[in-house]
Amino acid sequence: MSGQDAAAASAAYAAKRPFVTKDTLERIVEQVPTPFHLYDEAAIVRNMRAIQDAFSWNPGFREYFAVKANPNPVILKTLADMGCGLDCSSAVELMIADGTGVRGERIMFSSNDTPAADFRLARELGAIVNFDDITHIPFFEQVAGPIPKVVSCRFNPGGLFRLANGIMDNPGDSKYGMTEEQLFEAFRLLKAKGAEHFGIHAFLASNTVTNEYYPALARILFELAVRLQRETGAHVAFVNLSGGVGIPYRPDQEANDIHAIGAGVRRAYEEILVPAGMTDVAIATEMGRFALGPFGCLVTRAIHEKRIYKDYIGVDACAADLMRPAMYGAYHHITVMGRPGGPDKSDAPATHVYDVVGGLCENNDKFATDRVLPEVEMEDLLVIHDTGAHGHSMGYNYNGRLRSAEVLLREDGSWRLIRRAETPLDYLTTVGVTPEGRDVIEAAHRHMGRTGQPDGAPDGGAR
Ligand SMILES: Cc1ncc(COP(=O)(O)O)c(C=O)c1O
Repeated sequence: MSGQDAAAASAAYAAKRPFVTKDTLERIVEQVPTPFHLYDEAAIVRNMRAIQDAFSWNPGFREYFAVKANPNPVILKTLADMGCGLDCSSAVELMIADGTGVRGERIMFSSNDTPAADFRLARELGAIVNFDDITHIPFFEQVAGPIPKVVSCRFNPGGLFRLANGIMDNPGDSKYGMTEEQLFEAFRLLKAKGAEHFGIHAFLASNTVTNEYYPALARILFELAVRLQRETGAHVAFVNLSGGVGIPYRPDQEANDIHAIGAGVRRAYEEILVPAGMTDVAIATEMGRFALGPFGCLVTRAIHEKRIYKDYIGVDACAADLMRPAMYGAYHHITVMGRPGGPDKSDAPATHVYDVVGGLCENNDKFATDRVLPEVEMEDLLVIHDTGAHGHSMGYNYNGRLRSAEVLLREDGSWRLIRRAETPLDYLTTVGVTPEGRDVIEAAHRHMGRTGQPDGAPDGGAR
């Protein structure tokens, strides 16, 4: 690397700072073994207030937080207490919403390829069902009962979705939603079956780091809403802009301004819906990433350094804890905090180039490739940024890896364990249906002691 490149890489490293200090991390890791996801409660609340404020011009506005982004009950309850609804995509997410006290029309059920049991539970809880396909309407009736009075349909305009700065995504290649023709037909059909209030929904691009996405989508959906109401006589009660508002994972990206986004949607509303006399249309959103992404991080520890053709830092987290880099090649910033009891490295100059890797038997299990970082020593704590949404929730168990704990950091520096780490018994319990499986569970018991935790590990966080 040239001197200039090295300086730029070092500046990029320093440009993004974690929300947690090394001192606070040290206190937590004394009791919760790494790796774990850590969330910043005060920042989550502040950000949700900003979202609600940005859309306060619309009296019916509601954010239906996308449960798939982070289904932790403590976080969901915090958002629900602020007036948020929940966007659920499966029966289990519906159960989580119910248990959080969120029911009825505060649940948006935006699912696809939906099993009968999921529709039945959505109906039972009184959720707003967002039909992904026209064939789901008779299927719903058949398996879940009469069509509810409030319903929604998901739109897919096909083709490419473009904004001024280029192609954002390819809806024509996406499995979601109905064509325009089907949407009109679905509205007529649903109306004939007793539906009285309708929503339209679309999700056209993911992680849009621009203030233009929601306003552009709003224009498309508002124009469609006017035509749908005029031509079918159905009352369009809400327009659901879904998720897709992005966050600056990379240090050189500028964060979206939610107030500019809200104002852009308002302009579209005033130019399209107000002249059509549709002044009672509520705006709904289903943000996950924007609501939570930056306010979570994955705390991990360097456990090995390997030098072959490249220099690798092996950490105790892996793609099972955070799948995005392996799955999408996604960038997540990393800050080296230093080892507990050692110097605070969080401001140290970035001088070394590493691949930061987990231990899965998959070569894509890399949190960073050719990343310029300060020199990493064994036992250093590393903070992997922006894991608050689609982080822990995408976890899986490949290689018998157990899913990590979640910790909530409060404004006063205190913290609370809000999910313990999985134990071997959590992982193995489903094989207990056979004698062979029970032998394996018994072996796990022998190796772990009787507490359900590996010997020697403190309560509430062992792996
Ligand atoms: C239907 C639906 N709504 C909302 C979201 C949340 O999206 P984001 O986290 O990008 O805001 C998703 C994400 O996959 C989704 O599929």
